[in-house]
Amino acid sequence: MTNKTALVTGASDGIGLEFCKILAGRGYNIILVARRKNKLNEIAKSLSEQHKNIVCTVLSNDLSKPQAAQKLFQSTIKNELKVDLLINNAGLLQNGFFTELDLSTQEKMITVNILALTSLTHLFANDMANRGGGHILNVASLAAWLPIPNQNVYAATKAYVLSFSQALHNEMRAAGNGVSVTALCPGYTATKMMNNPDQGAKLSVPAGMLQSAQDVAERGIKACLAGKPVVVPGFANRATAAITHLFPKMMLANTAGSYYRKNLQ
Ligand SMILES: NC(=O)c1ccc[n+]([C@@H]2O[C@H](COP(=O)([O-])OP(=O)(O)OC[C@H]3O[C@@H](n4cnc5c(N)ncnc54)[C@H](OP(=O)(O)O)[C@@H]3O)[C@@H](O)[C@H]2O)c1
Repeated sequence: MTNKTALVTGASDGIGLEFCKILAGRGYNIILVARRKNKLNEIAKSLSEQHKNIVCTVLSNDLSKPQAAQKLFQSTIKNELKVDLLINNAGLLQNGFFTELDLSTQEKMITVNILALTSLTHLFANDMANRGGGHILNVASLAAWLPIPNQNVYAATKAYVLSFSQALHNEMRAAGNGVSVTALCPGYTATKMMNNPDQGAKLSVPAGMLQSAQDVAERGIKACLAGKPVVVPGFANRATAAITHLFPKMMLANTAGSYYRKNLQ
């Protein structure tokens, strides 16, 4: 039993749910954050029944709303919860032709993927530093490593998450405050994000290219607790990330553009 507490955003589904299961198994108390309160309550109940030594707290929150991060931080204070591990996992995706996609939906994606993640990192990094340390895991994507036409805002938000996290990892280490920051860059992962009608067109990906959400979450937690700056789970994904360094960005954009236009349905 660790007697430590993890806060996971996007805890109601996909990779976020797997983070919760793994951390509960390691004895972490879990703060579950997402919009669907009923789903979070069901997960919290199931985790608490399976792991008698942990406490699960549901703080439902729509991270696309103004001041969402500040309100969430205040809720943790009100509930006397100290966060030792923050996982900024909640994320939105939009596939399609930029000018044809709804603008407000794209703005929401930027708010959740960038603004909420940055604000939560700021609030909890300060709190962790004041208490002698902690871990922050920011979920980026393999999409962070190249410009992706027809998924361009999403890829750009993930490039932000990767760059922000790498730079912050260095800052925290230089400050010697005990806070580690890790960026997790999954490739295609078998979650509802791969087939969600709310996210524009569907990208068809061969089953063999999909990683399991559990595998991705396990590798993320391992790297985060080891204080690594970046983790790209899976050999093929690591090879893809390495290849992006060898070619000009426009060449990568042209190749990705052809692939996405052919495979978006
Ligand atoms: N799946 C992939 O292929 C893949 C690849 C690379 C990176 N990623 C990244 O991995 C992370 C998790 O993705 P996933 O595949 O697990 O996605 P998912 O299955 O679609 O789950 C997304 C989670 O985010 C929550 N969420 C969405 N909007 C929210 C909001 N406004 N406020 C609070 N929570 C919100 C959802 O819960 P509610 O609906 O209950 O709010 C859900 O728990 C994302 O950052 C994604 O970009 C995924």
